[in-house]
Amino acid sequence: MERKVGIIGAGISGLLACKYALAKGYHPLVFESRNTIGGVWTKTLETTKLQTPKSFFQFSDFPWPSSVNTLYPSQIQVFDYVQSYAKHFDLLNHIRFNTKVLNIKYDKGPSNHDHEENQSWGGDDPFGNKGKWIVTSQDLLTQTVEVLQVDFVILCLGRFSDVPNIPEFPIDQGPEIFEGKVMHSMEYSDLDNEKARDLVKGKRVTVVGYRKSALDIAMECSTANGVKNPCTIICRTPHWNISQSIPWANIYLNRFSELLIHKPGEAPLLNFLASLLSPLRWGIGKFVESDIKKKHSLKKIGMVPEHSFLQAMNSCSVVTAPVGFYDNVEKGSIMLKRSQTFSFHKEGVLLRDSIGPIKSDLVIYATGFEGDKKLRDIFLSSEFQKYLTGSFNDTAPLFRECIHPRIPQLAVIGFSEAFSNLFTSEIRCRWLFELLDGKFKLPNIQEMEKDMSVWNNSMYYRRPCIGAMHIWYNDQLCKDMGLNPKRKNGIWAEYFEPYGPMDYA
Ligand SMILES: Cc1cc2nc3c(=O)[nH]c(=O)nc-3n(C[C@H](O)[C@H](O)[C@H](O)COP(=O)(O)OP(=O)(O)OC[C@H]3O[C@@H](n4cnc5c(N)ncnc54)[C@H](O)[C@@H]3O)c2cc1C
Ligand SMILES: NC(=O)c1ccc[n+]([C@@H]2O[C@H](COP(=O)([O-])OP(=O)(O)OC[C@H]3O[C@@H](n4cnc5c(N)ncnc54)[C@H](OP(=O)(O)O)[C@@H]3O)[C@@H](O)[C@H]2O)c1
Repeated sequence: MERKVGIIGAGISGLLACKYALAKGYHPLVFESRNTIGGVWTKTLETTKLQTPKSFFQFSDFPWPSSVNTLYPSQIQVFDYVQSYAKHFDLLNHIRFNTKVLNIKYDKGPSNHDHEENQSWGGDDPFGNKGKWIVTSQDLLTQTVEVLQVDFVILCLGRFSDVPNIPEFPIDQGPEIFEGKVMHSMEYSDLDNEKARDLVKGKRVTVVGYRKSALDIAMECSTANGVKNPCTIICRTPHWNISQSIPWANIYLNRFSELLIHKPGEAPLLNFLASLLSPLRWGIGKFVESDIKKKHSLKKIGMVPEHSFLQAMNSCSVVTAPVGFYDNVEKGSIMLKRSQTFSFHKEGVLLRDSIGPIKSDLVIYATGFEGDKKLRDIFLSSEFQKYLTGSFNDTAPLFRECIHPRIPQLAVIGFSEAFSNLFTSEIRCRWLFELLDGKFKLPNIQEMEKDMSVWNNSMYYRRPCIGAMHIWYNDQLCKDMGLNPKRKNGIWAEYFEPYGPMDYA
């Protein structure tokens, strides 16, 4: 019998899931609410480029074309590359465009078979031989609602799209009293490039947030307006925002660097080694931090982060600042203001300790997304929604960052972040389809929950991410799949060269 796999989302994760489903002989049905593939790469700010070098952000069986010779391709180049991948593997025929999944519901089926009673995920067969998922979708062009049954669901909804995080305010302190315009970075990115340029030209723009979207938008505004109308950034937390000429992230991406840190579930010898090497870890950390602080004069501009660079790597929060960002701070076309809270005034934005407002014509929230809410809300069952709630550090707790032990016949791909999200989504899809093919079995529910709590306690800092432990994480997936986790030739390469997608090809 042909098994139907419902894949929700046709961004990079959904396309990968579709490709691996086809390779294993399943029947994938991809639902995509947009009219095209590519997810976040469909439309971005004009200046958006990959933050990850392209050799890390590539499909293991479909390298970048030789015509793309830059290290950090532009949005258009990424979009074209993703399109070529989908065409090459003939994925487009399996996608229903303009089709939004409204909700999904698990139907256990006629038997009493309960995945929790027998203590294994999905029952004896990971594909589940009793239950089905009921997927309710809507054609956004005709408004027709359709209900379909599938044997397995893969949620590839994306964490950084669709549901913006909008700050909330007490009555009379919010945007309703502001005479200018307020928008989220998502709306700004969606604008046609020329319209975006016209919108900020000659305006006093205030950007809320101090991570990638905020830096990129502030850069665009300061390029348009110079020191005459400086762009103000409101920063709640200083981050390790570094320029591409600082190569320090790379030294955290090889196997040797992982020997210096305590890893979830490590053997006593590795634990001892990490403790023994902790002075070296500390020394490297301090060296890297002081180099960044010096190069970007972080002390002078009052932007020294309180958390360590290693914590930033572990939470995928090291941001590549656009070229010229710190120069524009120095020149005064970008003004940095720190404040834990802010509110509105009719003429602009008030910071917690300020007397007058920062006068503004346009306020752009670069405040991120509520990807965890999007993930939860797709379930009709409040029980399943609760399972994915987790704690502050651990939104959407997932075994191997892919499945929830108490939600059968379902996987989530692309939620927990990594240094390269394409690379990580690919190896997760590969792992998932080996599991569905019966190549390996999962531990029982309690063992998976114990494992998740070990990972959560020893790894995450603020948000789920496999940042500085991606090789260790991939090792676990390789072991599950029966592959040798050591993928390189020779000891030097194994310990000192960074691991990338081609190592797992
Ligand atoms: C501007 C930007 C730049 C980035 N740059 C990098 C980078 O340099 N390096 C890196 O590693 N990561 C980067 N990221 C992270 C990025 O999210 C990943 O690289 C990756 O593209 C995510 O792919 P995805 O398929 O998981 O999610 P998305 O690209 O968000 O795709 C999700 C898809 O699901 C669809 N969808 C959602 N809900 C539904 C529904 N209910 N029904 C039907 N369809 C639905 C959406 O329409 C969308 O097409 C960046 C993110 C952004 C926003
Ligand atoms: N490749 C690229 O060029 C590119 C471009 C854009 C985005 N991206 C990626 O897309 C993802 C999302 O990035 P993002 O920058 O949009 O979002 P983000 O990483 O979630 O950052 C949100 C920012 O907004 C701040 N913030 C949130 N709520 C706030 C509030 N109520 N008041 C004040 N500040 C608030 C946060 O502060 P705290 O730190 O205090 O929480 C943080 O600085 C990231 O993975 C990023 O790397 C990549």
